[in-house]
Amino acid sequence: MSRSFAGLPAWDSLAEALRGSGVDGGALAALNTAMLEAVDHGDLPQWLAAIEDFPAIEAAQALDVPAPRLGLPVEGAPEDQGQEPPAEANGHSRESTEAAGAFDRLRNALMALHPWRKGPLCLGGVPIDTEWRSDFKWARIAPHIDLAGATVLDVGCGNGYFGWRMLGAGARCVVGIDPTVLFVAQWLAQVRCAGPSPNFVLPLRDTDLPLDIGGFDAVFSLGVLYHRRDPMDHLARLWAWTRPGGQLVLETLVVEGPRSLHPEGRYARMRNVHEVPTVDHLLERVRSAGFTRAQVADLNRTTTREQRSTDWMRFESLDRCLDPDDPARTVEGHPAPLRAIVTARRPMT
Ligand SMILES: C[S@@+](CC[C@H](N)C(=O)[O-])C[C@H]1O[C@@H](n2cnc3c(N)ncnc32)[C@H](O)[C@@H]1O
Repeated sequence: MSRSFAGLPAWDSLAEALRGSGVDGGALAALNTAMLEAVDHGDLPQWLAAIEDFPAIEAAQALDVPAPRLGLPVEGAPEDQGQEPPAEANGHSRESTEAAGAFDRLRNALMALHPWRKGPLCLGGVPIDTEWRSDFKWARIAPHIDLAGATVLDVGCGNGYFGWRMLGAGARCVVGIDPTVLFVAQWLAQVRCAGPSPNFVLPLRDTDLPLDIGGFDAVFSLGVLYHRRDPMDHLARLWAWTRPGGQLVLETLVVEGPRSLHPEGRYARMRNVHEVPTVDHLLERVRSAGFTRAQVADLNRTTTREQRSTDWMRFESLDRCLDPDDPARTVEGHPAPLRAIVTARRPMT
């Protein structure tokens, strides 16, 4: 039984998938191997055991849909696996027993990887109604980008949900990096269902990735910038990983003017929000990192339809972070979450 990420085959094709791109796949694969060996998390053996307990699943992928369908439905899965995000199936919550069918066994194993934050997903016919309707975010991003044939870096990719959507939009290969071990385990669970695929999640922070690893055609940073203590350092890294002429897609919290917010304590109950800039300040930061053609593609106030508790994320969610008497404010009295999508280019020279 696997007790760590080291030696698992899910990353074996990483260098090959990047061959002929502007990225040094060999160096990235070597770095990833070292990082896999270094990952140490007390719950990892039980997460890996849960994935090993999956029933047999026939590999399959349907990616260009709100809830990517990975793996053919196992026996006992609800029959309606249409284009819409999954509704929670009823009557499938009994604990794992030897008598449990393949559907219950898979559902229970996936539930052992709680909390599921980014999705929705449908794995082996099990609908996973995640905390975030990340398909809403993707619908706001997709009209502004062309990923046909692109090699993509997704910094702070979570469990790899957006990677499937990027492949569905024509990307050739997606390298996601995220230091949260549970999210990497959730990606492994997805790969167990999907079969081999050029959507990778590596257990790396932005600061682990060398600046000279090469240039990606498109670099995404969604929901990460406000968590970084030094936003200019993060943007300088994104610039270094974008090939000349390549595209940046940056999504982050903003406030309406006139001043950027530097929360003293928490912001919407989050401890690690360092700066929430105005839109003008954000664009200025993106330009001073060296990007051109920086523009706001979308501005959106996060709703409790998009971020909420579900069976698959049973902790508190956005509704508990807003002032019950004034949902335009957080419980701390700050403006409620407003998110901007900024697109920009690295100049050719
Ligand atoms: C708010 S979530 C956003 C996830 C996803 N990109 C999205 O937009 O839904 C922030 C993610 O950044 C990851 N993260 C935190 N610090 C990071 C760092 N230094 N480098 C890369 N990712 C980081 C977290 O583990 C988490 O998955």
